[in-house]
Amino acid sequence: MNKTLRKAVIAGNWKMNKTPAEAKALIEEMKPLVSDADCDVVLCVPYVDLQAALEASEGSNIKIGAENCHWEVSGAYTGEVSAEMLKAVGVDYVIIGHSERRTYFGDTDVTVQKRVRAALDAGLTVILCVGEYLEQREQGITTEIVSMQTKIALGGVSEEELKRVIIAYEPVWAIGTGRTATAEQANEVNKAIRDVVATLYGQAAADGLTIQYGGSMNAKNAEELLAQPDVDGGLIGGASLKAADFSVIVRAASK
Ligand code: PGA
Repeated sequence: MNKTLRKAVIAGNWKMNKTPAEAKALIEEMKPLVSDADCDVVLCVPYVDLQAALEASEGSNIKIGAENCHWEVSGAYTGEVSAEMLKAVGVDYVIIGHSERRTYFGDTDVTVQKRVRAALDAGLTVILCVGEYLEQREQGITTEIVSMQTKIALGGVSEEELKRVIIAYEPVWAIGTGRTATAEQANEVNKAIRDVVATLYGQAAADGLTIQYGGSMNAKNAEELLAQPDVDGGLIGGASLKAADFSVIVRAASK
Protein backbone atom coordinates (compact mmCIF):
# COMPACT_ATOMS: atom_id res chain seq x y z
CA MET A 1 0.00 0.00 0.00
CA ASN A 2 1.17 3.48 -0.69
CA LYS A 3 -1.09 5.52 1.54
CA THR A 4 0.52 8.80 0.64
CA LEU A 5 -0.71 8.38 -2.93
CA ARG A 6 -4.04 6.59 -2.48
CA LYS A 7 -6.72 5.45 -0.11
CA ALA A 8 -6.80 1.93 1.25
CA VAL A 9 -10.24 0.36 0.87
CA ILE A 10 -11.41 -2.85 2.52
CA ALA A 11 -14.68 -4.04 1.02
CA GLY A 12 -16.74 -7.03 2.02
CA ASN A 13 -18.58 -8.98 -0.64
CA TRP A 14 -21.32 -10.93 1.08
CA LYS A 15 -22.44 -12.65 -2.15
CA MET A 16 -25.74 -14.55 -1.65
CA ASN A 17 -25.55 -14.63 2.15
CA LYS A 18 -27.51 -13.10 5.04
CA THR A 19 -31.16 -12.13 5.45
CA PRO A 20 -31.96 -8.50 6.36
CA ALA A 21 -32.15 -9.41 10.07
CA GLU A 22 -28.82 -11.22 9.87
CA ALA A 23 -27.31 -8.29 7.98
CA LYS A 24 -28.38 -5.90 10.71
CA ALA A 25 -26.93 -8.13 13.43
CA LEU A 26 -23.59 -8.57 11.64
CA ILE A 27 -23.19 -4.85 11.01
CA GLU A 28 -24.03 -4.04 14.63
CA GLU A 29 -21.31 -6.49 15.63
CA MET A 30 -18.81 -5.00 13.17
CA LYS A 31 -19.39 -1.32 13.91
CA PRO A 32 -17.40 -1.02 17.15
CA LEU A 33 -14.65 -3.28 15.78
CA VAL A 34 -13.91 -1.09 12.75
CA SER A 35 -14.81 2.36 14.11
CA ASP A 36 -11.20 3.52 14.35
CA ALA A 37 -10.19 2.26 10.89
CA ASP A 38 -7.64 4.29 8.99
CA CYS A 39 -9.00 3.03 5.67
CA ASP A 40 -12.37 3.07 3.92
CA VAL A 41 -14.69 0.26 4.97
CA VAL A 42 -17.40 -0.90 2.58
CA LEU A 43 -19.88 -3.77 2.78
CA CYS A 44 -21.46 -4.96 -0.47
CA VAL A 45 -24.61 -6.88 0.32
CA PRO A 46 -27.54 -8.58 -1.46
CA TYR A 47 -30.21 -6.19 -2.81
CA VAL A 48 -32.79 -7.21 -0.23
CA ASP A 49 -30.35 -6.40 2.59
CA LEU A 50 -29.51 -2.89 1.39
CA GLN A 51 -32.15 -1.06 3.40
CA ALA A 52 -31.34 -2.89 6.62
CA ALA A 53 -27.61 -2.44 6.04
CA LEU A 54 -27.99 1.29 5.38
CA GLU A 55 -30.01 1.71 8.55
CA ALA A 56 -27.64 -0.36 10.67
CA SER A 57 -24.55 1.48 9.37
CA GLU A 58 -25.98 4.98 9.71
CA GLY A 59 -23.68 7.30 11.63
CA SER A 60 -20.78 4.82 11.42
CA ASN A 61 -17.74 4.68 9.11
CA ILE A 62 -19.17 1.67 7.24
CA LYS A 63 -20.37 2.42 3.71
CA ILE A 64 -22.80 0.21 1.85
CA GLY A 65 -22.61 -1.17 -1.67
CA ALA A 66 -24.50 -3.51 -3.97
CA GLU A 67 -23.06 -6.50 -5.80
CA ASN A 68 -24.16 -5.65 -9.33
CA CYS A 69 -26.40 -3.28 -11.30
CA HIS A 70 -28.05 -3.18 -14.70
CA TRP A 71 -26.94 -0.76 -17.42
CA GLU A 72 -30.34 0.74 -18.22
CA VAL A 73 -32.04 3.28 -15.97
CA SER A 74 -35.36 1.44 -16.11
CA GLY A 75 -37.34 -0.81 -18.44
CA ALA A 76 -38.38 -4.35 -19.26
CA TYR A 77 -35.53 -6.22 -17.56
CA THR A 78 -37.21 -8.68 -15.25
CA GLY A 79 -35.20 -9.40 -12.14
CA GLU A 80 -32.70 -6.59 -12.62
CA VAL A 81 -31.93 -3.49 -10.52
CA SER A 82 -30.62 -0.25 -12.00
CA ALA A 83 -27.79 1.93 -10.73
CA GLU A 84 -30.30 4.78 -10.35
CA MET A 85 -32.40 2.62 -8.04
CA LEU A 86 -29.34 1.86 -5.92
CA LYS A 87 -28.47 5.54 -5.70
CA ALA A 88 -32.07 6.33 -4.77
CA VAL A 89 -31.97 4.06 -1.71
CA GLY A 90 -28.71 5.63 -0.57
CA VAL A 91 -26.11 3.17 -1.78
CA ASP A 92 -22.63 4.56 -2.58
CA TYR A 93 -20.75 1.59 -4.06
CA VAL A 94 -21.38 -1.21 -6.51
CA ILE A 95 -19.28 -4.23 -7.48
CA ILE A 96 -19.19 -4.78 -11.23
CA GLY A 97 -17.76 -7.66 -13.23
CA HIS A 98 -17.26 -10.11 -10.39
CA SER A 99 -16.05 -13.42 -11.78
CA GLU A 100 -19.14 -15.20 -10.41
CA ARG A 101 -21.26 -12.82 -12.53
CA ARG A 102 -19.03 -13.48 -15.53
CA THR A 103 -18.98 -17.27 -15.00
CA TYR A 104 -22.58 -18.02 -13.96
CA PHE A 105 -24.66 -15.13 -15.28
CA GLY A 106 -23.23 -14.34 -18.65
CA ASP A 107 -21.53 -11.03 -17.90
CA THR A 108 -19.03 -10.18 -20.61
CA ASP A 109 -16.41 -7.45 -20.94
CA VAL A 110 -18.96 -5.54 -23.01
CA THR A 111 -21.80 -5.75 -20.48
CA VAL A 112 -19.31 -4.96 -17.71
CA GLN A 113 -18.40 -1.78 -19.59
CA LYS A 114 -22.08 -0.86 -19.90
CA ARG A 115 -22.69 -1.47 -16.19
CA VAL A 116 -19.65 0.63 -15.26
CA ARG A 117 -21.00 3.44 -17.44
CA ALA A 118 -24.43 3.28 -15.79
CA ALA A 119 -23.01 3.16 -12.27
CA LEU A 120 -20.80 6.20 -12.86
CA ASP A 121 -23.68 8.08 -14.49
CA ALA A 122 -25.79 7.39 -11.39
CA GLY A 123 -23.06 8.81 -9.14
CA LEU A 124 -21.92 5.51 -7.65
CA THR A 125 -18.37 4.41 -6.95
CA VAL A 126 -17.49 1.25 -8.87
CA ILE A 127 -15.50 -1.70 -7.59
CA LEU A 128 -14.48 -3.22 -10.92
CA CYS A 129 -13.34 -6.84 -10.74
CA VAL A 130 -10.82 -8.34 -13.14
CA GLY A 131 -8.92 -11.59 -12.97
CA GLU A 132 -7.71 -14.62 -14.84
CA TYR A 133 -8.78 -18.28 -14.78
CA LEU A 134 -6.22 -20.86 -13.69
CA GLU A 135 -5.75 -22.08 -17.28
CA GLN A 136 -4.95 -18.54 -18.35
CA ARG A 137 -2.35 -18.15 -15.60
CA GLU A 138 -0.81 -21.49 -16.59
CA GLN A 139 -0.69 -20.31 -20.19
CA GLY A 140 1.22 -17.23 -19.07
CA ILE A 141 -1.41 -14.76 -20.30
CA THR A 142 -2.53 -13.26 -16.98
CA THR A 143 -1.29 -9.78 -17.82
CA GLU A 144 -2.96 -9.83 -21.22
CA ILE A 145 -6.27 -10.98 -19.74
CA VAL A 146 -6.46 -8.43 -16.94
CA SER A 147 -5.18 -5.67 -19.24
CA MET A 148 -7.91 -6.38 -21.76
CA GLN A 149 -10.61 -6.61 -19.08
CA THR A 150 -9.42 -3.30 -17.60
CA LYS A 151 -9.21 -1.50 -20.94
CA ILE A 152 -12.65 -2.60 -22.10
CA ALA A 153 -14.33 -1.86 -18.78
CA LEU A 154 -12.81 1.63 -18.66
CA GLY A 155 -13.74 2.42 -22.26
CA GLY A 156 -15.39 5.85 -22.21
CA VAL A 157 -14.53 6.53 -18.56
CA SER A 158 -13.04 10.01 -18.14
CA GLU A 159 -10.07 10.83 -15.92
CA GLU A 160 -12.44 12.67 -13.58
CA GLU A 161 -14.74 9.63 -13.39
CA LEU A 162 -11.77 7.35 -12.73
CA LYS A 163 -11.65 8.89 -9.25
CA ARG A 164 -14.84 6.93 -8.55
CA VAL A 165 -13.37 3.64 -9.73
CA ILE A 166 -11.62 1.04 -7.59
CA ILE A 167 -10.18 -1.98 -9.35
CA ALA A 168 -10.16 -5.34 -7.59
CA TYR A 169 -7.72 -7.90 -8.95
CA GLU A 170 -9.29 -11.26 -8.21
CA PRO A 171 -7.62 -14.34 -9.69
CA VAL A 172 -10.56 -16.67 -10.25
CA TRP A 173 -8.61 -19.68 -8.96
CA ALA A 174 -8.20 -17.94 -5.60
CA ILE A 175 -11.85 -17.04 -4.99
CA GLY A 176 -13.49 -19.09 -2.26
CA THR A 177 -10.86 -21.81 -2.68
CA GLY A 178 -8.60 -21.01 0.24
CA ARG A 179 -5.83 -20.80 -2.32
CA THR A 180 -4.48 -17.25 -2.14
CA ALA A 181 -2.16 -15.65 -4.61
CA THR A 182 1.22 -15.07 -3.03
CA ALA A 183 1.86 -11.50 -2.00
CA GLU A 184 4.34 -11.26 -4.88
CA GLN A 185 1.83 -12.60 -7.43
CA ALA A 186 -0.83 -10.17 -6.21
CA ASN A 187 1.55 -7.24 -6.33
CA GLU A 188 2.84 -8.16 -9.77
CA VAL A 189 -0.62 -8.18 -11.34
CA ASN A 190 -1.81 -5.11 -9.43
CA LYS A 191 1.27 -3.30 -10.73
CA ALA A 192 0.51 -4.50 -14.27
CA ILE A 193 -3.03 -3.11 -13.96
CA ARG A 194 -1.65 0.20 -12.71
CA ASP A 195 0.71 0.32 -15.70
CA VAL A 196 -2.21 -0.21 -18.07
CA VAL A 197 -4.16 2.58 -16.37
CA ALA A 198 -1.09 4.80 -16.71
CA THR A 199 -1.06 4.25 -20.47
CA LEU A 200 -4.73 5.30 -20.58
CA TYR A 201 -4.81 8.20 -18.11
CA GLY A 202 -1.21 9.09 -17.27
CA GLN A 203 0.96 8.15 -14.31
CA ALA A 204 -0.56 10.56 -11.78
CA ALA A 205 -4.07 9.16 -12.30
CA ALA A 206 -2.71 5.61 -12.10
CA ASP A 207 -0.82 6.40 -8.91
CA GLY A 208 -4.02 7.70 -7.35
CA LEU A 209 -6.08 4.61 -8.22
CA THR A 210 -6.96 2.18 -5.45
CA ILE A 211 -6.28 -1.38 -6.64
CA GLN A 212 -7.43 -4.11 -4.28
CA TYR A 213 -6.57 -7.77 -4.17
CA GLY A 214 -9.34 -10.33 -3.67
CA GLY A 215 -9.39 -14.11 -3.41
CA SER A 216 -9.22 -15.92 -0.07
CA MET A 217 -7.85 -12.87 1.73
CA ASN A 218 -8.32 -13.57 5.41
CA ALA A 219 -7.29 -12.57 8.92
CA LYS A 220 -4.07 -14.57 8.61
CA ASN A 221 -2.73 -13.49 5.23
CA ALA A 222 -4.10 -9.93 4.96
CA GLU A 223 -1.14 -8.20 6.53
CA GLU A 224 1.39 -9.69 4.13
CA LEU A 225 -0.76 -8.98 1.07
CA LEU A 226 -1.54 -5.42 2.19
CA ALA A 227 2.14 -4.71 2.84
CA GLN A 228 2.77 -4.88 -0.91
CA PRO A 229 3.28 -1.47 -2.54
CA ASP A 230 0.58 -1.94 -5.19
CA VAL A 231 -2.04 -3.73 -3.05
CA ASP A 232 -4.27 -0.94 -1.77
CA GLY A 233 -6.90 -2.94 0.03
CA GLY A 234 -8.98 -6.04 -0.35
CA LEU A 235 -12.27 -7.36 -1.64
CA ILE A 236 -13.21 -9.93 0.95
CA GLY A 237 -15.75 -12.72 0.47
CA GLY A 238 -15.88 -15.45 3.10
CA ALA A 239 -13.97 -13.54 5.78
CA SER A 240 -16.36 -10.58 5.51
CA LEU A 241 -19.12 -12.75 6.98
CA LYS A 242 -17.32 -12.92 10.32
CA ALA A 243 -17.00 -9.66 12.25
CA ALA A 244 -13.82 -10.64 14.07
CA ASP A 245 -11.99 -11.78 10.93
CA PHE A 246 -13.12 -8.80 8.90
CA SER A 247 -11.98 -6.38 11.58
CA VAL A 248 -8.52 -7.95 11.65
CA ILE A 249 -8.24 -7.27 7.91
CA VAL A 250 -9.44 -3.69 8.39
CA ARG A 251 -6.82 -3.26 11.10
CA ALA A 252 -4.10 -4.65 8.82
CA ALA A 253 -5.09 -2.07 6.18
CA SER A 254 -4.98 0.70 8.76
CA LYS A 255 -1.31 0.20 9.55
P1 PGA B 1 -13.29 -14.98 -1.07
O1 PGA B 1 -14.10 -14.12 -2.17
O2 PGA B 1 -12.63 -13.97 -0.15
O3 PGA B 1 -14.32 -15.80 -0.38
O4 PGA B 1 -12.29 -15.78 -1.81
C1 PGA B 1 -13.59 -12.94 -2.69
C2 PGA B 1 -14.54 -12.40 -3.73
O5 PGA B 1 -15.13 -13.19 -4.46
O6 PGA B 1 -14.72 -11.17 -3.84
